[in-house]
Amino acid sequence: MTQVHFLLLAHWVLSHKTLDLFIFLRYYHRCCHCSQAKFCSEGCSLKAWEIYHQYECGNLDLLQSVGIAHLALKVLLTAGKDQVLKVCSTWGEEIIRDKNIFNKDQPPYTRVYSLLDHIDVMPPEDMFQYSLTASLLVNFLMKRTNLFNDCLLEDVYTVGGVLLKHICQLICNAHAITSIAADHHLQFFSVTTTQESQIRIASAIYPSASMMNHSCDPNIASSFIQGRTLVVRVTTDLNKGSQIFNCYGPHVRRLRRETRQENLTQQYFFECDCNSCEKEAEDGFSFVDTFQALQCSKCSGPIIPDVTKQSFLVNCQDCGKFEDIEVKMRASLQVDQIISVASNFLEEGRTANALEILSQGYKIGSQHLFKYNSDYGQMCDMLGRCYAVLGNFDEAIHYVHESMNYVEQRFGETSIEYARELRKLSDLLKLCTGAKSHEQAMIIAMEKSDRILKLYENENS
Ligand SMILES: *[C@@H]1O[C@H](CO)[C@@H](O)[C@H](O)[C@H]1NC(C)=O
Ligand SMILES: *[C@@H]1O[C@H](CO)[C@@H](O)[C@H](O)[C@H]1NC(C)=O
Repeated sequence: MTQVHFLLLAHWVLSHKTLDLFIFLRYYHRCCHCSQAKFCSEGCSLKAWEIYHQYECGNLDLLQSVGIAHLALKVLLTAGKDQVLKVCSTWGEEIIRDKNIFNKDQPPYTRVYSLLDHIDVMPPEDMFQYSLTASLLVNFLMKRTNLFNDCLLEDVYTVGGVLLKHICQLICNAHAITSIAADHHLQFFSVTTTQESQIRIASAIYPSASMMNHSCDPNIASSFIQGRTLVVRVTTDLNKGSQIFNCYGPHVRRLRRETRQENLTQQYFFECDCNSCEKEAEDGFSFVDTFQALQCSKCSGPIIPDVTKQSFLVNCQDCGKFEDIEVKMRASLQVDQIISVASNFLEEGRTANALEILSQGYKIGSQHLFKYNSDYGQMCDMLGRCYAVLGNFDEAIHYVHESMNYVEQRFGETSIEYARELRKLSDLLKLCTGAKSHEQAMIIAMEKSDRILKLYENENS
């Protein structure tokens, strides 16, 4: 567990419906000067005024326009100008990185100050933009606040430099505070597979969490206590001495290898050689490609179309047999259209129409699409929904089982997405009265789902 000291709320948080993370937002106390800042209590408001809000007050529109640089400023104000100048003169560029960051006896600001900034490798155009932002902030502090009233010009420059450093540090060290997306249609059914499972509520900085290395297939899940304390839990059993990996953003289950590598090089300046990246380089295709795959006529294995090639002759990943996939490609497009038509039907409440067309799509899909193709998974999900609406729960359960297989494969057995599928299944089983086996299956599914969600669920009290 690691405690936050520097935090920036997302701008939209105050108007969003999923406020559960911050109980205080429901009973907030407004700043009596500007109406924009809200606090949990009067005491908190007074404290914030002392520390940073006196400088922000009335200028939040400007500050929100600079994004993460606003957090850089908040770090500076929270630490206090005097501490900042002192740390700068003590540490300068000579930072004992690891020792400081992990050292709980160091003040939080020193730990943040010790984080990597990558200034030496930052592309000039990025550096230019961040410098401009830092000077804008210094100008703002000089003209609109009294922060620099008793300062030497030299100190003002130092503060400007520190702001620039913090901006660069935050680009690669800021941590998202998230909440499980409250999915309003989840009451019953939704195509969870296309939705973001977690939403960003705030950005904050946790120096010790920053020390975790990246893997595109991480072995941890993060959650938050009262939106402040970061709790990191492993999602699988690990051997003693194994490394804990965080994912810095690009995840093997969401993006192709090339895209992930590009993202990590641009934002974090390293070339990822995690197990997933190595494996995908060896295989010649990415994990996510499997979910676009067609079905091999011989062994039902995945055939991954290569759009860069002109030929329709492609080999199966499992048995290696080459096959002309033109017909299958066309079938795949047809399924695509069917899904979109069926979605419209469902939205209009025309369940019977949706069911009819989806049943056709399912037939085509079963023959031509790989069993984990995302369109196939989505069709199963929709079919489950149709049957549930029509009251045929046994059929609904059959299709939910199929879409669950897809979701488990795609997002993993400890994912929020899979937990939701389990919830869906247990809801349906609850509706099927009678069979004893159903009752047991329901309990198992519910417990499994709860166990997964516990990894991600924030604690607010
Ligand atoms: C991160 O990786 C580096 C290089 O492989 C290693 O030296 C370091 O110990 C790792 N950090 C953690 C926290 O495991
Ligand atoms: C990397 O991906 C994240 C989302 O995963 C995005 O917010 C960020 O802007 C991307 N960075 C670059 C440099 O593409």
